[in-house]
Amino acid sequence: MTAKILSLNVNGRDETILCDGLTTLQEVLRDQLGLLTSVKDGCTQGGCGSCSVLVDGELWLSCLAPVAALAGRAVMTLEGLKQSAGIAAIQQSFIDNSAAQCGFCTPGMILTVKALLDANPEPSHDEILEALSGNLCRCTGYLPIVEAVKDAAARLSGGADAARASEGREG
Ligand code: FES
Repeated sequence: MTAKILSLNVNGRDETILCDGLTTLQEVLRDQLGLLTSVKDGCTQGGCGSCSVLVDGELWLSCLAPVAALAGRAVMTLEGLKQSAGIAAIQQSFIDNSAAQCGFCTPGMILTVKALLDANPEPSHDEILEALSGNLCRCTGYLPIVEAVKDAAARLSGGADAARASEGREG
């Protein structure tokens, strides 16, 4: 397999990476760029969602994406979204609803929720379940995560005060 060098924008920075036709985006993000915190290695078969990233704003499973086809595309991991609108509200909603336990699935879940709420700011219960269907969680039983998504949607559409008021919480 012939190795080649290509440029990939990751979290707002142009990165020079080495790959061949079989190198996945997950391998590049973890092994070449050291993004081990948010880009998990759960199954490498597209079955768990823990390696989710955004490519030009769309949710991708990085373990299934041949990186050689992504030259010039913009990849965002959770590390790169720290300052972006909405991420803090989603993260706080996960904390407040106990939607993260061991945390292994959490970065992928949060990216999935970000992609969902960017496309559909007021998802129905069924739309939330559908959006989360590719992300496995072995700890929470999913209900806290679904509640966190509803909470995040309320925070982002009406602000944190609206979300707290709707659940009878204060402060
Ligand atoms: Fe442990 Fe989801 S919080 S896998």
